[in-house]
Amino acid sequence: SVRKLFLLPGDGIGKETMAEVRKFITAMNEKFGSGFETEEGLVGGSAYDAHGVAISEADMEKALAADAVLFGAVGGPKWDSVPYEHRPEAGLLRLRKDLALFANLRPAICYPALANASSLKPEIVEGLDILIVRELTGGVYFGAPKEIIDLGNGQKRGIDTQVYDTYEIERIASVAFELARTRKNKVCSMEKRNVMKSGVLWNEVVTATHKAKYSDVQLDHMLADAGGMQLVRWPKQFDVIVTDNLFGDMLSDIAAMLTGSLGMLPSASLGAPDEVTGKRKAMYEPVHGSAPDIAGQGIANPIAMIASFAMCLRYSFNMIKEADDLETAIANVLERGIRTGDIMAEGCTKVGTEAMGDAILAE
Ligand code: NAI
Ligand code: MG
Repeated sequence: SVRKLFLLPGDGIGKETMAEVRKFITAMNEKFGSGFETEEGLVGGSAYDAHGVAISEADMEKALAADAVLFGAVGGPKWDSVPYEHRPEAGLLRLRKDLALFANLRPAICYPALANASSLKPEIVEGLDILIVRELTGGVYFGAPKEIIDLGNGQKRGIDTQVYDTYEIERIASVAFELARTRKNKVCSMEKRNVMKSGVLWNEVVTATHKAKYSDVQLDHMLADAGGMQLVRWPKQFDVIVTDNLFGDMLSDIAAMLTGSLGMLPSASLGAPDEVTGKRKAMYEPVHGSAPDIAGQGIANPIAMIASFAMCLRYSFNMIKEADDLETAIANVLERGIRTGDIMAEGCTKVGTEAMGDAILAE
């Protein structure tokens, strides 16, 4: 069957790391007949230079028609003063919004070879493999009212509103439970039901969803602040963590630092299943940005982008063996001491972007 990929390399090192992913797509088509069809578009500053917008309507249509979007990174000093509505990030936000990507998946995997690079003790992170499922389209970042009011007495009031409806909690909880079934079958839901009404509802709906459809999965609840503490104290106690937009933003950044470099971290964002085909819209991207400080030098770490492609194989195409093989290849190459500059350690061999991609491909 045909598998339609839409590639948006973007700006800076996005172009360099996407070039490495293209090698895997070509090789899989040639060796295994994987049937990937790729199209490529422009996003961010590159799209602004070509079309005067952060993503063109034609490219938006291609993104909507694809089985999965692979996104590199956007931004850079060249576009710091473009009009606000056309800034590079606007392309990313538009994609997330129009594809209705409500579930953000951020794995924190600590490859044993990199356990020393973590900000925590090696024994705490070695072999760590957790997945944070963050709600991405609701909550306090989007709820109304959202404004600054002038109170007239020299005081102003800043207002943001945390809003969650039952269906929003139900669908993100379902994603978490379904993913847990493919892993260690454990979900920990985090909120602040002790001080927030939306937290009370979150807890109720996750519990009800569990009871109705996923009672085979182990479910625990934790207050989000205690969850942050436990993530740093003993992260290996977790398998899947499901939480709202705000707490998920913070908890996933904390979890990121357990594993070493920004150049190692992939992510996936999923939408609702199509009513006819059951397929979810999806976009896969590294957590890092366009890294203007090292762009164009051929030294960026392509692993975050390659691992994002592994997530794409796993979640969009159910190619579990291929995804496992790709992740194992990354681990083996690191084990052999092959490193880009950002993860370089004593006694290891320093390589550039292309050599790292080639080493993983060969493996
Ligand atoms: P950044 O993630 O681009 O870079 C932060 C630091 O990490 C830099 O020192 C960079 O060299 C290093 N780094 C990042 N990825 C790396 C990799 N793969 N290999 C080796 N080193 C790597 O974040 P920064 O500097 O805050 O932002 C740079 C630009 O990227 C800005 O225009 C920002 O708006 C944009 N950005 C875009 C994102 C996206 O497209 N999703 C996310 C974050 C920032
Ligand atoms: Mg963040």
